[in-house]
Amino acid sequence: MGQITRNRPASENRPTILIVGAGPAGLVLGNLLRAADIDCLILERQSRAHVEHRARAGYLAANTVRILTDNGLAAGLLRNGQQHDTCMFRTDHGSFELRYGSRGRGEVHTVYPQQDLVRDLIAEYLDRSGDIRFETRVRDLNDVDTKQPWVTCESADGEVHQWSCEYVAGCDGQHGISRGAVPADAAQRYRRDHGVSWLALLAQAPQSMAAVAYAVHANGFAGHMARSPSITRYYLQCPRGHDPASWSHERIWEELHLRMRGELHGRLREGQILERGVVDMSSYVMDPIQYGRLFLVGDAASLISPSAAKGANLAVMEADVLGKGLVAHLKGDDEQQLRGYSAACLPRVWRAQEFSHWMINLLHGPMGDDDEAVFLRGLQHARLESLRTSRSYQDFFAENYVGI
Ligand code: APR
Repeated sequence: MGQITRNRPASENRPTILIVGAGPAGLVLGNLLRAADIDCLILERQSRAHVEHRARAGYLAANTVRILTDNGLAAGLLRNGQQHDTCMFRTDHGSFELRYGSRGRGEVHTVYPQQDLVRDLIAEYLDRSGDIRFETRVRDLNDVDTKQPWVTCESADGEVHQWSCEYVAGCDGQHGISRGAVPADAAQRYRRDHGVSWLALLAQAPQSMAAVAYAVHANGFAGHMARSPSITRYYLQCPRGHDPASWSHERIWEELHLRMRGELHGRLREGQILERGVVDMSSYVMDPIQYGRLFLVGDAASLISPSAAKGANLAVMEADVLGKGLVAHLKGDDEQQLRGYSAACLPRVWRAQEFSHWMINLLHGPMGDDDEAVFLRGLQHARLESLRTSRSYQDFFAENYVGI
């Protein structure tokens, strides 16, 4: 084990805020703090190249675009992002389009690949003289319920460092260590396995339609979402524990054409499959999302299924609420907002969870021909019909799909 270097209090360059993780949550928070001239340090276990090329989400809700714009972080997405305001549903009973941009509050999504957003946020953070250490894995969080939390981290060269600080922001995602630093009896943990899995695909192919497309089919769900003019995200519902490598290129496109009813609506524009993986639909909510001087943000705080594209948007919303709370406390001596961080975020987290659950039931009918399955598919069809025909349903959909 390398030399332990302990960084002593502020006089010796101790960061006020230590941020674990450089995903959307950690980077938005870091930028807000730097804008207020608060010194912070981001520790990220992956390399800069890795986080700047990791393709993940990309559907930014109106509120996310507002937060990024208000904080001078939206230049890239305003320049290169594509606005999306339409969903298309394809079922055995026909196909319909829902222009959600003309329903609800009339808000739309901006499609901007997450890796491009992360690249912009890192560049802006460095421009704001932010301190970030890549290839530095945080191994443990300590004394987060005291006035002097500290962490141990290991850099790529095996050096072990200890950093102390005033506050820790756990922005290290669902597989990070921050969640585990909250004692079991200090928070309620809500979990749900939705019992559905998606084969998640990234194709080197332009979008086949100017809309998010959801297909409900006896073989399972299929989804089509643009990522950029030349990259499209596809999803295929598959059995739990399925090996993504077992799907040949031909079989993937054949199944996508079939479920998307390509014979009726025109064949999809094919291309090389760049990435594939299986996502099991599960949800996780922690309450509260703060413990002592540790604040959880983004996927570290709650996990949401990708059925309604909420994950990255919740991460940015929470980073904004926490950033404002820390600035008000450290610059304005008002602790109110910071104390209320969890209470401010959780109602919106639960609303997003509720709508994502509603989307899972909308898009996935149970397989099989037993009475229960047949009845539930009947309900699914009725829900889709209401969405096709009922203005209030469409307003509900729009408000929750692009709002919250
Ligand atoms: N030490 C340092 N960094 C860590 C550690 C650790 N022990 N554990 C994880 N990390 C880093 C990861 O490498 C990752 O870059 O934390 C970062 C967490 O980033 P995300 O997983 O993107 O989480 P978050 O910022 O909360 O954004 C969540 O964005 O990825 C989308 O759809 C996804 O909803 C999700 C949203």
